[in-house]
Amino acid sequence: MRKILITGALGQIGSELAEEMRKIYGSDNVVASSRRIKEGHEKLIESGPFEVINVNDPETLASVVDKHKINTIVNLAAILSAVGEKEPQQCWNINMNGLYNILEIAKEKNCMVYTPSSIAAFGPATPKDNTPQDTIQRPTTMYGVTKVAGELLCDYYYKRFGVDTRGVRFPGLISYKTLPGGGTTDYAVHIYYEALRNKKYSSFIQKGTYMDMMYMPDALRAIINLIEAAPDRLKHRNAFNVSAMSFEPEMLAESIRKFMPEFKLDYDVDPIRQEIADSWPNSLDDSYAREEWDWNPEYDLDSMTKDMLEKLRIKLNIQG
Ligand code: SER
Repeated sequence: MRKILITGALGQIGSELAEEMRKIYGSDNVVASSRRIKEGHEKLIESGPFEVINVNDPETLASVVDKHKINTIVNLAAILSAVGEKEPQQCWNINMNGLYNILEIAKEKNCMVYTPSSIAAFGPATPKDNTPQDTIQRPTTMYGVTKVAGELLCDYYYKRFGVDTRGVRFPGLISYKTLPGGGTTDYAVHIYYEALRNKKYSSFIQKGTYMDMMYMPDALRAIINLIEAAPDRLKHRNAFNVSAMSFEPEMLAESIRKFMPEFKLDYDVDPIRQEIADSWPNSLDDSYAREEWDWNPEYDLDSMTKDMLEKLRIKLNIQG
């Protein structure tokens, strides 16, 4: 039976993954954890076991793994790209040293480790369109550096110590439950909130900047399906390209206008996040994920927009 520990469980992915995994595996079998308790997550904290864990504290990590007889660790504690450029040392410390602690504990206590990589693991020298699974990875952000190093570390722990490591390179993730915390792709979440609140949005990412994106239900399926995939089918240990859609701000605005014709988009570009976006691919080739564990996303831009606007309208209590 799976006994799962999720780190960073109150973040954008973790808060939804914990809820979904508790439905699938049973509440008692999914331990949610976070560096600190955050307001607004009472329901999740009370719906099953919860532990305060700092991934930089290996003793607490190990004792929680023992206490709950954990055999699967989903490591979602991380600093994202834009915050990582403001605090590169902190980004290295949480993303790299945290992952190292988790891999060491997984080695000792025989756990599977799922840890996400990102489109940020690529850089300006990477082929931009239909970016291959195995290609040049020379990122120019600290976040990207930790993602490439994390991929290599997972490969190493798999080959050298037999730790069952798995991961995907997530694109920008769009969701309505928990806001992302300081990424470059966050404009594609904020735009929906502002569309509903003010019928307009000022984008910090420039017109014409393509990036891969995915709706959260597909991202959750990617994690769960990869965790459940037969190990002998997996030739890539960390991490698989996955893709669902690629768009630039005007295309997103056009999709919103199909449901809210009065919506207006203008630009107030943030040079730091624009430079990060310009260093990333436009779209990834995810054929190995499709081949090795049957990856197949369900949402495209318009079906995502329809669902986002419906769900956010209820969440924000906006009529009409
Ligand atoms: N969404 C992330 C970011 O923008 C990319 O992995 O930082």
